[in-house]
Amino acid sequence: MVNLGVLVSGSGSNLQAIIDNIEAGRLDAQIKIVISNVPGVYALERARTHAIPSMVISHKEYKKREDFDQKLLEVLKTHEVELVILAGFMRIVTPVLLRAFPMRVMNIHPALLPSFPGTHVWQTEVDYGVKFAGCTVHFVDEGPDTGPIIIQAVVPVYDDDTADTLNARILKQEHKIFSQAIQLYAEGRLKVQGRRVLAEGIPQAPDSFMINPPVTIFER
Ligand code: GRF
Repeated sequence: MVNLGVLVSGSGSNLQAIIDNIEAGRLDAQIKIVISNVPGVYALERARTHAIPSMVISHKEYKKREDFDQKLLEVLKTHEVELVILAGFMRIVTPVLLRAFPMRVMNIHPALLPSFPGTHVWQTEVDYGVKFAGCTVHFVDEGPDTGPIIIQAVVPVYDDDTADTLNARILKQEHKIFSQAIQLYAEGRLKVQGRRVLAEGIPQAPDSFMINPPVTIFER
């Protein structure tokens, strides 16, 4: 059982997926606290509905990022949080938080890192013409979207996709892999070796592949 602190800034659909997986007994974790840096967001409502403690800590009340992170840190420690989950948390975290939780802050990014870091990536992906997109759960380090990758999911990009349709297809997979990453952590399977995160005891699928456009493959 791992104690989570979930940081949010918006709708909280990833938070909801984590809650649902915990309640269904698939995810061996408990959410000790949900913290939003933005008042009134729907993620807070989701926490309340499920009787999960939640609070707002507005970044606007702190002059420096480090001071804001120090406050987050105090609250996370008070709630005995072991693993910090950034579920649509739209702030850059500083070493103040990261050094207190080394390789214990996880983020979800809606692209296949290291491609397409940053925000609002879907239109950029469509415009670039990539045939696959996806999402990444990674440990957070001191760079933007640069931390060691834990798990990724791949989705096709179709000719008639818009930023919105691609976002929706990716988000469905985010809701699956974030919980999976947390469960791997809870089971003690994640071993960080430099940039690589190994998932011990998970069988490989050496011949799996996807092709897009989904043409019929020549058999030989
Ligand atoms: C997702 O696109 C996630 O990848 C990004 O922020 C969005 C959060 O959505 N980091 P939600 O608040 O979980 O619905």
